[in-house]
Amino acid sequence: MQISRLWLLNFRNYENATLDFADNNLIVGPNGAGKTNVLEAIDILATSRSKIVNGLNKCIRYGQPGFAINGQFAAGDDKSGESTAFTAALRQEHGAGRVIKINEETLSRASELLGRVNSVLFLPSDMEIIHGQPVQRRKYLDIVISQAEPEYCRALQIYVRALKQRNELLKNMRAGQSGDLAVWDAQLADCAARIMTARQEYLEFFARETAQFYNAMGFTGRLTLQYKTKTLSDKQKNLDALQNSRAEDLRFGRTHFGPHTDDFEIYLDENKAAEFCSQGQKRLISIAFKCAEAKIKKQKLDDPPIVLIDDVLLELDLIRLHKIIAAIAPRSQKIFTVTDTGRFAPELLKDMRIIKIENGKLA
Ligand SMILES: Nc1ncnc2c1ncn2[C@@H]1O[C@H](COP(=O)(O)OP(=O)(O)OP(=O)(O)O)[C@@H](O)[C@H]1O
Ligand SMILES: [Mg+2]
Repeated sequence: MQISRLWLLNFRNYENATLDFADNNLIVGPNGAGKTNVLEAIDILATSRSKIVNGLNKCIRYGQPGFAINGQFAAGDDKSGESTAFTAALRQEHGAGRVIKINEETLSRASELLGRVNSVLFLPSDMEIIHGQPVQRRKYLDIVISQAEPEYCRALQIYVRALKQRNELLKNMRAGQSGDLAVWDAQLADCAARIMTARQEYLEFFARETAQFYNAMGFTGRLTLQYKTKTLSDKQKNLDALQNSRAEDLRFGRTHFGPHTDDFEIYLDENKAAEFCSQGQKRLISIAFKCAEAKIKKQKLDDPPIVLIDDVLLELDLIRLHKIIAAIAPRSQKIFTVTDTGRFAPELLKDMRIIKIENGKLA
């Protein structure tokens, strides 16, 4: 997948800007210029959400009623070698929902956007995959799988809705009302099995690929992942488990069993990465996750994703930086951000389009 042009209107510190991209791009500008905002905007076209703030309203340029982002893309097909051009556009106004269009067609649900714009965003905050809360790891996994498998996204949406209804009912029943949990149990058990099966498959892929990327970057140590779940791949067994925990559920007014309590742990050799690894090691592990994500998307969508790399690599030494750049999805279009080009070797810079930004404008 390639992005050829991005148009931003009243998005963050951009009043009205058009950026054109080549295969390899370096966005350069001082702190606060608006470099990360460009990557965030492309990622919003991929996921309909911001990975940086909760709620797209915060991305509306101060004092303006709304923003619009428009991207021109070319989707490739590795098998046929053909590419199809399309535009993705998202508009957000204060107090209104998102309006998303692919070409001229308005999507009826934001989830229909998933899987259209194929990209991977590397952010400094990715280290939360390692030392963040279980909910952050689940969210990360859910977004990656949903982009690759629309079916997963649907199962997850049904699951989340049913879980909310069941918990409400449990609270009412605890307060003395009568109620029947059976309908929700059946929905939860079925979706839980599907969610668990997919998470297991993707975590196996992540385990294999992160370990490989970590070593390919020149680091020793065996990186392994452990999926922590009580959920089963069998609907009937999940139903039994829900029924077994019903007494406890009624006592606390919430559902204890299911994939909403899942987590995964990351180990370097025998040590838990969150507790044992240095900052630099955690950074590299998070980069290995993103490289694995790029590989998953390339395989599942038959098209190498656009790779968006925000600052993250700069605290690494140059030899490692070069290794990583070579390891990340070799045929992908890449967009890096940096405050100055000094750290890039001339041979790397020579095939890069340099896009200079200052204060929300092309400089
Ligand atoms: N909703 C908004 N309206 C107007 N300006 C905004 C909005 N949100 C953020 N900004 C501005 O955008 C700028 C930050 O942009 P961005 O994070 O892209 O900078 P950057 O170039 O990545 O900087 P750094 O090198 O420090 O990471 C800040 O100056 C901030 O004030
Ligand atoms: Mg930034």
